[in-house]
This record gives sequence, C-alpha cells and structure tokens, in this order.
Amino acid sequence: MVLLFGAAGYVGRAIAGALREAGLDVAAPTRADLDLTSRDALSAWLGGIPKPEFAINAVGFTGRPNIDGTEVEKWHTLRANTVVPGVLAEVLGAAGIRWGHVSSGCIYHGSRPDGSGFIESDEPEFAVFDPRAGWYARTKWMAEKLLAGAPGVLIWRLRIPFDSHDNERNYLTKLMRYDRLLEVRNSISQLGEFAAAAVASMHERIPDGIYNATNPGSILTSEVAAALARHGICRKQFEYFRDGEEFLSAPGRVFRASCILDPSKLAACGIRMAEVHESLERTLREWKRA
Ligand SMILES: NC(=O)c1ccc[n+]([C@@H]2O[C@H](COP(=O)([O-])OP(=O)(O)OC[C@H]3O[C@@H](n4cnc5c(N)ncnc54)[C@H](OP(=O)(O)O)[C@@H]3O)[C@@H](O)[C@H]2O)c1
Repeated sequence: MVLLFGAAGYVGRAIAGALREAGLDVAAPTRADLDLTSRDALSAWLGGIPKPEFAINAVGFTGRPNIDGTEVEKWHTLRANTVVPGVLAEVLGAAGIRWGHVSSGCIYHGSRPDGSGFIESDEPEFAVFDPRAGWYARTKWMAEKLLAGAPGVLIWRLRIPFDSHDNERNYLTKLMRYDRLLEVRNSISQLGEFAAAAVASMHERIPDGIYNATNPGSILTSEVAAALARHGICRKQFEYFRDGEEFLSAPGRVFRASCILDPSKLAACGIRMAEVHESLERTLREWKRA
C-alpha cells in the first residue's frame, strides 16, 4: 500500500491515477482525516494502519487564482509547502518509511551560464539570494533544505504542469485565458509523465535525493501558443508584454521565475520523459475540452 497526501489536488490526482494504473493500493487521508502539521497526529494515525511501502507528498499551496495569491496567504503557503514536508520528514523518517516529495523548479531563474539547464547540484541562488524571488519559491526552497540528505527521501522537481484536460490548473488552459502573454523560455512537465516518473522511481528504488522531473528541453511561450493554434484549440491573436518590467507593472503581481532544468539525472536512472515539443504535440492531439 502507498500513502498519498494531497490526493485531491491537481498533482495528487494525477499521481493517484498513476499509482492505481500500476496496480497499487492507495491510502489517501484528506485534510479532514489528519492534521499534517502535527507530528503527534501523524504518528498516531500511522500507528493505526499497516506499514505502507512508500508515501508521497503532493500537499502544497500554489496560490489562487495564481501564484500572486501566495503573497497574500503567506501562513497557509508556509504551512502547506514547508511545515507539512518538515513534519513528514520527521515522522516518516522515524517510522522508516521511504517517501517522495513534490518540489518545484521555481527555485531557479534562467539557465546555467552556458545556456544549459540547471542540474540538481546547482545551488538555487534565485530562491536564496534574489530579492525578486516570491514567497512561494522561498517556501519550496526551505522544504528542500529541510529534506536535504535525509535517508529514504526522493524529491521530484515539477515545473509548470500541463495535461490534455482543459481545466483551470492546467498551464495550457491558463495560457489560453490570458490576452497578453509574457515571452519566456521554460522547462515544463507533462503531468501524466511526471506522475508516471514518480511512480517508476518508487518502483525502481532509484537512489535518494533530488531529481528534476521536467520534459527534456525547453520551450518559449510563443511556441506553446503556436501549437495551440495549429491544433485548432485556441486561435486567439495574443499580444505580448514588451518585457518582464511591463508585465510586473500590474499591482500585486509577483516576479515569475522562468528556468531551464536538466532532467538527465532521472533519465540516467532509466526514467525518461518525452522531449518537450513531442510531449506537447501528443498532449494537444489528445485534448479534451471542458
Ligand atoms: N500546480 C503547479 O503549477 C505546481 C508546479 C510545481 C510544483 N507544484 C507542487 O505540487 C504540489 C501540489 O500542487 P497542486 O497544484 O496539486 O496544488 P492543489 O491542487 O492546491 O492541491 C494541493 C493539495 O494539498 C492539500 N493541502 C493544502 N494544504 C494542506 C494542509 N495544510 N494540510 C493537508 N493538506 C493540505 C490540499 O487539500 P484541500 O483539498 O483540503 O485544500 C490539496 O489536496 C505542491 O507542493 C506544489 O508546490 C505545483
């Protein structure tokens, strides 16, 4: 049996699907069943169930309607993104349960000096030192620091998830709802592939540590918009912000990191996600309108 925390969320639902597809039993306590900010509550709850073979943390808060919301709901953001993983690290560690945590690529901005993607051992200087880094990035970075080096922990870095179901949490749907876009280059993660990679890494017992779990390569916002038009999904004539400064001029808007990640560490473990343009094409061929 695999324990899944945050199973009702956008990412959690995809992971639950991948676990069930792999024929695994899933126990998914809701927030009402269990207070994950309490070590005592979690220890007592674990004492009442058979020892799981693995646990996955898909709890978190990414802001509503978007990341700007995390600047307003700071305590909720810190609790979901940092306190919960900290409690899981202590309690699951003490119980000897291996587990995986969904982190984020948003702790980086840009690329390595030669233009290649950041690798796992690169210090996420953006989240640590850059005053433009938002609260969300800082809470995700702190969680990684809390878990760093802990035995029996996998950290999967997800980045801008997208999938073939038209819904408000999907990057593709979000993009279509805007009239003006910001042209940036990013590594992004096809959500189904990410979930399958998380389950495979559990099965394959890959070494503990951090893994970038993005589709190899990177893509520009305008390339995504062109692909949406080519598939007849969105023919909007988007306008583009002149630059990041103009984008940030709207009140309450937090700086958006954009970054390239290198997922070859995960691939070296035999877990491969499709090249980003290829994955986007397949996702758009399978597009299901809301
Ligand atoms: N979506 C993205 O763009 C993205 C990108 C990179 C990384 N991530 C990471 O992926 C993870 C999941 O994100 P998501 O997009 O799936 O978020 P989501 O749709 O908001 O789901 C989050 C889940 O966490 C639960 N939760 C929140 N606070 C909790 C708390 N204090 N105690 C217990 N459960 C709590 C929520 O429960 P309720 O249903 O009760 O609220 C919900 O089931 C997060 O760690 C996020 O940082 C997401």
